[in-house]
Amino acid sequence: MPGPFHVGVLMPVTVLIGAQWGDEGKGKIIDALAPDLQMVVRYQGGPNAGHTVIVGGKRTVLHQVPTGILHPGIACLISPGVLLDPWELLDELAMLQASGVELERLKVSPACHLIMPWHRLLDRAREAALDRQAGPGAAIGTTGRGMGPCAMDKAGRRGVRLGDLLDPARRAACEAGLAAANAELESLGAEPLARAELHVALERATAGLAPYLGDTRPLLHGVLQRGGRVLMEGAQGMMLDLEWGTYPYVTSTHPSAGGACTGGGVPLREVDQVIGICKAYCTRVGNGPFPTEFEPGAFADGFRTAAGEFGATTGRPRRCGWFDAVAMRYACQLNGFTDLVLTKLDVLDGQPEVKAAVAYELDGRRLDGMPEDLRLLERGPCPVWRTFPGWQGSADARRWDELPQAVLDYLAWLEEDLGTRISWVSNGPERSQLLRRDA
Ligand code: IMP
Repeated sequence: MPGPFHVGVLMPVTVLIGAQWGDEGKGKIIDALAPDLQMVVRYQGGPNAGHTVIVGGKRTVLHQVPTGILHPGIACLISPGVLLDPWELLDELAMLQASGVELERLKVSPACHLIMPWHRLLDRAREAALDRQAGPGAAIGTTGRGMGPCAMDKAGRRGVRLGDLLDPARRAACEAGLAAANAELESLGAEPLARAELHVALERATAGLAPYLGDTRPLLHGVLQRGGRVLMEGAQGMMLDLEWGTYPYVTSTHPSAGGACTGGGVPLREVDQVIGICKAYCTRVGNGPFPTEFEPGAFADGFRTAAGEFGATTGRPRRCGWFDAVAMRYACQLNGFTDLVLTKLDVLDGQPEVKAAVAYELDGRRLDGMPEDLRLLERGPCPVWRTFPGWQGSADARRWDELPQAVLDYLAWLEEDLGTRISWVSNGPERSQLLRRDA
């Protein structure tokens, strides 16, 4: 039985990414796509991600394992672009096993760089040092999962990869990393890591992950050759991209669609569908510019609580704001979305009016598009708003044509402005609350 995303045409690879600052509700959409898929691949990010999926009324939060694992029969890969925390992965696998999920369908690439215990410690110590030296708010506001320090070692060509654990000589080389990290930790006033502790942890990771280790490329290309559909599951969001996001307030991998090719090993020509997930408003966790953010106060707090905007990985309250069409046009251009999914539409039900930023004003100048130097956004551009009449009852719609006329008008305007088709809207957490345009 084809799922709601079935398009009737064989599309070998779908790339699905967050089009804003992450937390757009990717987990729910992947769950809806599942009936059409043979394979789901995580290709970037790492334990910083938190993908929430509700299947059969049961809520599961996955951090590193592809969301497809919750659907029997879907093969799942963690490919080289993921920065992998092996101990977190073991915990996640134990949680899944306890819920009866069979895990033989999962393979993890030996080329994944490992987030070592010192990377987490360094992430937190460096963030604390930034706040100490430059004042509160100077830090990036990372998830504290070790992403940045691991990516630094990877780019510096001194990283440890999963395959290294199997080779005693390469494993011994981890000690160089430990020594360097301990020196830095001590200089930052943080506790160093004991060598013995490291060895116990490495033993546990090696033994625990051995059954899952395997080359991911032949598996992926095998599915493609057999005409199966593969979903590349993005983590975080476009505006956190290391290259194109609001640097330095970004993550350390590439959440934009191109990351699927470099991190996942998919040839560009196999990608036929690029789905961008965006909320009907915006959220952001961590520091960094956010032009459409609500002023702090009762409205912002009430909105956050009603929308349930608290991080799935860290529990941090998310910053909330109106839809940013400037950032979204940028995301559409850079990723070439074939489809957009607008999520959490129901959260806007009952607002007297709904706003979207159509341009920014900065230093007396109007900016209709994103500047390439996104640090300019740190100077606090003023959004140029377009205001729409509010609506009631979008949460009750179970079909596209049951959506209130004010919503349909708003969607029509968004499509025109973004030059991209909105193919689905989501108006609640249940599967039945994902409305397909042509259904
Ligand atoms: P890091 O990825 O932990 O280094 O954090 C860098 C920035 O990305 C911080 O602003 C984090 O809050 C943000 N970030 C990382 N992962 C996610 C995510 O899954 N959702 C939303 N924001 C994220």
